[in-house]
Amino acid sequence: MGQVFAFAEIEDEEEMQNLLAETGMSLAGEAVEHVLLKDGSKIMAVGRVIELDDGFFHLLVLAVAKEERGNGIGEQLISKLSEFPWQYCRESLGIPGGLYRITTVAKGQAVTFYKKCGYEVCDFSLLMPPFDQQCEACPDKTACSPQAMVFSGAISQN
Ligand SMILES: CC(C)(COP(=O)(O)OP(=O)(O)OC[C@H]1O[C@@H](n2cnc3c(N)ncnc32)[C@H](O)[C@@H]1OP(=O)(O)O)[C@@H](O)C(=O)NCCC(=O)NCCS
Repeated sequence: MGQVFAFAEIEDEEEMQNLLAETGMSLAGEAVEHVLLKDGSKIMAVGRVIELDDGFFHLLVLAVAKEERGNGIGEQLISKLSEFPWQYCRESLGIPGGLYRITTVAKGQAVTFYKKCGYEVCDFSLLMPPFDQQCEACPDKTACSPQAMVFSGAISQN
C-alpha cells in the first residue's frame, strides 16, 4: 500500500498519542481533527491545522514518527497542509478568496525545517489570539526558544 493523507480515525488515537509523546507533545484537540500521513496502516506523521478566520489558518501541531525523521516525511505533510489548508480543517470556511496565511509557533530547533518548507520568521504580534501570547507563561520558554512563523499562500485564479 502506498502513502495516504487523510483525517485520523478514532482507532488511530493511541498510535497518534504515542508518536506525539515521543517528543513531549500531545494531541491538539480531538484525534479525528488531525491529519495523518500513513504508509499502509503505519502512521508516519501527524498534523493539525485550524482556520481562525477567512484565509487565516494556524498550524497547531506537526510531528513525524521518530524512526521516520530525516526522510522528507515532515516536508511532505506540511506541504500538503500548507497548499490546501481548507481541505484539512474539519471546520473550514471554504476556499479562501485569494491570499491566505498560515501561522505557527516553532520550537527553536525546528525553525530551519519550517524555513525549508516555505515558512518565514515573523513577530508574535502577527499571530491571532491566543497564539500571540501562548509562550508567555511557559516555564520551558528559554529552553524551547520558540519562534513565530508564517506561510503566505495564494489561490491560483486559473
Ligand atoms: C521537525 C520535524 C517535523 C521534521 O520532519 P522530518 O521528516 O524529520 O523533516 P524532513 O526530512 O522532511 O526535512 C525537510 C528539510 O528540513 C531539514 N530539517 C529537518 N529537521 C531539521 C532540523 N531539526 N534542523 C535543521 N534542518 C532540519 C532537512 O534537512 C530537510 O532539508 P533538505 O530538504 O535540505 O534535505 C520532525 O523532526 C519532528 O517531528 N520533530 C519533533 C517534533 C517537532 O519538533 N515538531 C515541530 C514542532 S514546532
